[in-house]
Amino acid sequence: MMDPAKFKLLKGKKALVTGIANDQSIAWGCAKAFSALGADLAVTYRSEKTKRFVDPIIGEVKPSIYMPMDVEHPGELEAVFETIEKKWGKLDIVLHSIAFAPKADLQGRVVDCSKDGFLMAMELSCWSFIRMAKLAEPLMKDGGTIFTMTYYGSQMVVENYNMMGPVKAALECATRYIAAELGPKGIRAHAISPGPLKTRAASGIGEFDKLLKKAEAKAPARHLVSIDDVGLAVAFLALDGAKLITGDTIYVDGGYHIID
Ligand SMILES: NC(=O)c1ccc[n+]([C@@H]2O[C@H](COP(=O)([O-])OP(=O)(O)OC[C@H]3O[C@@H](n4cnc5c(N)ncnc54)[C@H](O)[C@@H]3O)[C@@H](O)[C@H]2O)c1
Repeated sequence: MMDPAKFKLLKGKKALVTGIANDQSIAWGCAKAFSALGADLAVTYRSEKTKRFVDPIIGEVKPSIYMPMDVEHPGELEAVFETIEKKWGKLDIVLHSIAFAPKADLQGRVVDCSKDGFLMAMELSCWSFIRMAKLAEPLMKDGGTIFTMTYYGSQMVVENYNMMGPVKAALECATRYIAAELGPKGIRAHAISPGPLKTRAASGIGEFDKLLKKAEAKAPARHLVSIDDVGLAVAFLALDGAKLITGDTIYVDGGYHIID
């Protein structure tokens, strides 16, 4: 099989990767793919606690910038973009791979969720993406690509996905508006929709093993998706050759979403 890493197709590109919690994180699969294709990385971690799990693996992608960023903490996201501006003066790729919902709200019916829980999930999982796009815009001087991570539960009622369904629907819609608004500057936006993956975030979703079994049995590929599958698909979309693909929700799910 052709080894895409042989071709450093992202050489010279500067990429910001958020959302690595450990070596199972989807963002980690993306960071590895960007790095393998030659991109220079800025990586953020949420907290000192998260850093303990990221420190042992991060050497593999040798980020030029490595700093904390909790989207709930005022000024931290801005500080990341200021650092990027000072060090690189430009940015080509942004990966938003962040989601959060309070467990009690996530595990109940949508109609029962609390206002505070819903607003918190929207702020951390959707509004934070819009803020990132705003901060990236002036730095994407030669155009660029902005990614977020979504899930099929935005389109269909998926058992146990509950409150994250409407939150991800808003995220996918925000992606379309960002793509339309920033497109004239050569900036693209994608919502990537992977099939279920056993990550820390997924552990908050009830009966997740059932979802994995169903995905494997129903997807035309009869295969579960890995973080490396997602990473390579994202890296492909960041290539100059993919410059006319924008605004979509792109499924990396073995074709699950086309089956009734
Ligand atoms: N795992 C799946 O099955 C699956 C499927 C489709 C989409 N997704 C989406 O992929 C994205 C990444 O999740 P994952 O599955 O890799 O799990 P993960 O737990 O590895 O990643 C979630 C990340 O969000 C970060 N985060 C949460 N609150 C934050 C905050 N306030 N500030 C900064 N960072 C914060 C966490 O630190 C973590 O790195 C999420 O948007 C998730 O909804 C996951």
